Amino acid sequence: MSTSKRFQSRSQREINQDSFIREWPETGLILFNSPGDPKPQIKLDQGRITELDGKAEAEFDLIDRFIARYAVDLSVAAESMAMDSLSLARMLVDFQVPRERVVRIIGGLTPAKIMEVVNCLNVVEMMMALQKMRARKTPSNQAHVTNKKENPVLLAADAAEAVERGFSELETTVGVARYAPFNAMAVLIGSQTGRGTALTQCAVEEALSLRLAWLGLTTYAETLSVYGTEQAFHDGDDTPWSKAFLASAYASRGIKVRFTSGTGSEALMGHAEGKSMLYLETRCLMAIKGAGSQGVQNGSISCIALPESLPGGVRGVLAENLIAALLDLEVASGNDAMASHSQIRKASKLMLQFLPGTDFIFSEDNLFGGGNFDSEDLDDYTVLQRDMQVDGGVRPAREDQVLAVRRRAAQAIQAVFAELGLPAITDQEVEAAVIAHSSSDMPDRNVVADLEAAENFLRQGRNGLDVIRALARHGFQDVAGKILEIQKLRVSGDYLQTSAIVLAGSSLSSSLKDSGSPMSPANRTAGGLRVLSAINDPNDYQGPGTGYHLGPARWQEIADIPQATDPRKIGAVVPGKGQGLFQETGEAKTSEDAQEIVIAVGPAFGSRLDSTLLGLPHREVLQALMEGVQEEGMKARVVKIYSTSDCGFIGHAGAQLSGSGISIGIQSKGTTVIHRRDLQPLNNLELFPQAPNLTLKSYQVIGRNAAKYAKGEPVLPVPVQIDNMARLKHIVKTTILHLRETELVIKEKGPQEVVLGRKI
Ligand code: 5AD
Repeated sequence: MSTSKRFQSRSQREINQDSFIREWPETGLILFNSPGDPKPQIKLDQGRITELDGKAEAEFDLIDRFIARYAVDLSVAAESMAMDSLSLARMLVDFQVPRERVVRIIGGLTPAKIMEVVNCLNVVEMMMALQKMRARKTPSNQAHVTNKKENPVLLAADAAEAVERGFSELETTVGVARYAPFNAMAVLIGSQTGRGTALTQCAVEEALSLRLAWLGLTTYAETLSVYGTEQAFHDGDDTPWSKAFLASAYASRGIKVRFTSGTGSEALMGHAEGKSMLYLETRCLMAIKGAGSQGVQNGSISCIALPESLPGGVRGVLAENLIAALLDLEVASGNDAMASHSQIRKASKLMLQFLPGTDFIFSEDNLFGGGNFDSEDLDDYTVLQRDMQVDGGVRPAREDQVLAVRRRAAQAIQAVFAELGLPAITDQEVEAAVIAHSSSDMPDRNVVADLEAAENFLRQGRNGLDVIRALARHGFQDVAGKILEIQKLRVSGDYLQTSAIVLAGSSLSSSLKDSGSPMSPANRTAGGLRVLSAINDPNDYQGPGTGYHLGPARWQEIADIPQATDPRKIGAVVPGKGQGLFQETGEAKTSEDAQEIVIAVGPAFGSRLDSTLLGLPHREVLQALMEGVQEEGMKARVVKIYSTSDCGFIGHAGAQLSGSGISIGIQSKGTTVIHRRDLQPLNNLELFPQAPNLTLKSYQVIGRNAAKYAKGEPVLPVPVQIDNMARLKHIVKTTILHLRETELVIKEKGPQEVVLGRKI
């Protein structure tokens, strides 16, 4: 326990629930530069690599051999390896050096050399490099659609909402493996409801995952894990060759696939061989490249808390995303496994991928680990996009649109279940799914019956066509049509291209039309689906004014969050309301009455505006001030100032008229000052700059204090509450109310004597 109360308080903060450790290189608990890391080196002999990073061919392990055979471009290796690492690092951030040239040169490097190059960059430089090097020009995002009860109706509704919100890939997974066909089907149906469309996957055991894809129940796959040491690979029951074979099995049917890797996995499994996390990850990425994959999900992924416990961990994770992009792989950059207790730390880490953009800013499942960012954070995310004018791949969505697509998706899966003789989905379930927050809002289903039906579904050889047929028979021709279109697209092999996403013709409008991407007719299908990939939307960033930019339509979409209100309506004049608290009776004169306190009000007070920032009626505020003055045996005279809307100047003008020389100046929004005739306008006796903290009671005390100043009595300043958030909460309304007051300023018009129109 700390002695200092401040240390005690900080120790309770969320950040201090995260784990932090010092480096321990022998066990691989280090991000960069482990003493065990090899030095970059290559030896070529008659078109083959005979030495790699200080190891002779005879000592190669499986991963070395795979990399040496398949992952180094021998046509440039000698030349690339001869280049100085710092010069190479500078090419990464130099926008004059086009992406293709970087890819070509990097293609000839060994793992140790790539790591050395990237380690020359700080995080800002890595972000600059990632902005140039990510494969697809248009950034996008992947969502996870899971629920604890694995309720298929809720899955379908959530999938539909995710697509409505702009996600271009949806991943589901299972707690109980036997649910897989239903989860896959539910997400497939939801993904093609409403504006559609997206690719979908169901992350389960590899053979089942492949089967679901071949059956047309999913359209891509992701979790082909690789590791950076042989022993870790063995424990994963695999070799780079077996993974390459699996990837080919997907590709043979046109199914998009990406691998998974990430810093920390080898150390976690106890097989880091004393190598740094980033060195091992570079080996993984080269193995993935060698396996011919179009892309990778990386960025530590499930292991994220481990690099984050170490110095430079977050920089290391950005480095691994960058290395993937340098190897010309699509990057789905994690960000979804719980990375910190601290909201500050989570958001800070996100910025490293969000700002430069990656192919998919989020990836990774969240059913078991809890999401680092989840649907609760969607409004934060859309605000970040709007704040920074950055396209993070998400659309702000309105509740009515969301409810509509959720209902339609829930009805669609209800129809499919009915048609295929699966356990019935009730109308009550449909309605619950439309509005649910989580699966605890869903009625329980008969789990045994569902699991049995899911198993039968596979046993009977049901597939995507059965789903399409069932939808078409029950009034869901549009959903059926889109699922069919995607299946056709799959057969054409079109979305095997690097970093492919499938977009609906109509939904493309915003980002694509604006950025003027060349869309060849070959990439359009009859149904209007379009594939967008590194082939037809290559990242052509070459400095300011190039690469992806937010076109006007997409910017409009990002800027127009539902929470944004119309400022023109704040304090707008409502006919017949707020007028006529006073009647003006002519120019106000200076008084000789030493008993008098002037209350000087701003130009809109009691006329165009009728209440303060917090909604205290002007009538009551004035009454409280006058009461205070009268309680001290003084008289209050109200005058209206037209020449200024500034609180200090209003008070100052009032003081010039006041018989006692003391005045209270008040703006329409409620900001108040106690002034004295001889003081400079911007000096004062007491200022109450935070109107929201003032109650009617405080106005009364202000009245009393003003009177006491006039009488020359000792005065205790008015106690006011401090609210640190007051400015944050009220600045917009403050600005606009002040604007409305300022609009009524008539510079040359003198102060006006007023009588109160009605009794106050
Ligand atoms: N390295 C390799 N595979 C990983 N996965 C997650 N993190 C990593 C990593 N750092 C894979 C595992 C896991 C799935 C969610 O993703 O296969 O089960």
